[in-house]
Amino acid sequence: MKTITCTAPVNIAVIKYWGKRDEKIILPLNDSISFTLNQDEMCARTTVAVSPSFTEDRFWLNGNSYCSVLFAVFLLLVYSIVLSRAYISVRRRASKRKLEGSIEDILNWHVHICSVNNFPTAAGLASSAAGYACLVYALGQVYGVEGDLSSIARQGSGSACRSIYGGLVRWYKGELDDGTDSVAQPIAPPDHFPNLRIIICVANAGRKKTGSTDGMRQTVQTSRLMEYRVKESVVTRTEAMMEAIQDKNWSTFCDLTIADSNEMHAVCLDTFPPCVYMTDTSHAVASLVHQYNEVKIARGDLNHKVCYTFDAGPNACLFVPGAVVKEVLALLLRTFPPGPSQSPTEYVKGIPAQSATLSKELMSLGDEDFEGGRLKYLIHTRVGDGPRLMLDAESSLLDHTTGVPK
Ligand code: DP6
Repeated sequence: MKTITCTAPVNIAVIKYWGKRDEKIILPLNDSISFTLNQDEMCARTTVAVSPSFTEDRFWLNGNSYCSVLFAVFLLLVYSIVLSRAYISVRRRASKRKLEGSIEDILNWHVHICSVNNFPTAAGLASSAAGYACLVYALGQVYGVEGDLSSIARQGSGSACRSIYGGLVRWYKGELDDGTDSVAQPIAPPDHFPNLRIIICVANAGRKKTGSTDGMRQTVQTSRLMEYRVKESVVTRTEAMMEAIQDKNWSTFCDLTIADSNEMHAVCLDTFPPCVYMTDTSHAVASLVHQYNEVKIARGDLNHKVCYTFDAGPNACLFVPGAVVKEVLALLLRTFPPGPSQSPTEYVKGIPAQSATLSKELMSLGDEDFEGGRLKYLIHTRVGDGPRLMLDAESSLLDHTTGVPK
């Protein structure tokens, strides 16, 4: 039996992918740019085992205790379709290379795959991106596939292609019909903006109402504003973002990130019927960030601005310079206190951080509503690297003798 275990990261786009030019092989209408998040706090883990003694291909998706049985079955079905696509792609590439001996044997063996996420699935937390990237990366390792894996991961879930790399990543939409030039590439290392922190404000960890795939299809079909986004604004903004990244211009980076998130949600609202992802709590978080930035701008402290971005869900993802992370966490704890039965340690997950005392000026920020439990919890993390190969036996999700989950 040959067994490989890998982990893969979540990524959060600062220039959003929203809309496809080809739904079958997932080709986007615009380029997008993302940060890859550190895997210590959030990752997908996948073990792939191949053996001549396996009698069929089998797949397990664990850790879904919060899902209904029906949902788990549905998810399994979706995953197995993607799995077969990814598997065929990997197979085709591997056989093209006319591999010798053992790998050619391995291609004919059945496969067992077990995958887990350590964070909520389908809550707009980019769980599918990490899951598909991990699956493709692990299969790539098993079959010794060299070269670009992002174009395979893309076919599982578009945003997954960006999780194949660490740091800042750009997914080029490509021009060709076969999608071979629609690939992700790293554009800057994880420490490009040194000591950058990410705080995910989880407003709802349940499933989103309209999935991204359906939502973006409806937007492309019905929104006139989307035509403007695709032809003009997102193209210009992507180039401005590349420049801001190259120049390490944090203030411009923040403005562009906020503008692109807001534009994505504007085209969602311009969709008929509208796709509404942000809630009152999401808007309250966005408003707090703007109030905070006004304080920084008034002091000429542009390097300590904060920015937000929202995917297809109500959860805010904040990018926070390390020097102000304690202050920002304290501000979030004051404006969005934990629910009555929640301790601060349960509420702020991820990297531990001591709380800071807020200045009088910052104490005056926030809206009128300081009710506990508006946010479910926060995840404090940082930028991270691409998929990892786990060499220790304990990481494996499958038993090394039976090939079934431990
Ligand atoms: C809002 O990659 O989930 O997170 O390709 O249809 O599977 P499919 O969509 P998916 O879309 C994610 C869109 C987004 C923005 C982004 O990550 O760029």
